[in-house]
Amino acid sequence: MKVTFITAQGDKVEASAAVGDCLLDVAQNVDMPLEGTCEGQMACSTCHVIIAPDWFGKLPRASEDEEDMLDLAAGVTRTSRLSCQITLTEDMDGLEVRIPGESRDMQRR
Ligand code: FES
Repeated sequence: MKVTFITAQGDKVEASAAVGDCLLDVAQNVDMPLEGTCEGQMACSTCHVIIAPDWFGKLPRASEDEEDMLDLAAGVTRTSRLSCQITLTEDMDGLEVRIPGESRDMQRR
């Protein structure tokens, strides 16, 4: 299956992925600038991505903890998610994800 990332500069980068992969790992494999500092502990928000609006409703909803963390992320939109919380399923083949322009590591302030 494939996931397409759109960089902050607007370039499209295709990544191949497998069911069960974590979206953050897939992004890092193709050098997207997501730090993922807390390694999926929902404590950093540096893995913030923006899901294409067509896709957002097809993903499982964010947990409350994830939403709380997203409130702290820079440049959050209505279709923002933490990529470390998204596990790829078969239905997500072709998923489109945008990398936010501005990222800020909350743990480093
Ligand atoms: Fe820290 Fe996702 S890696 S919240």
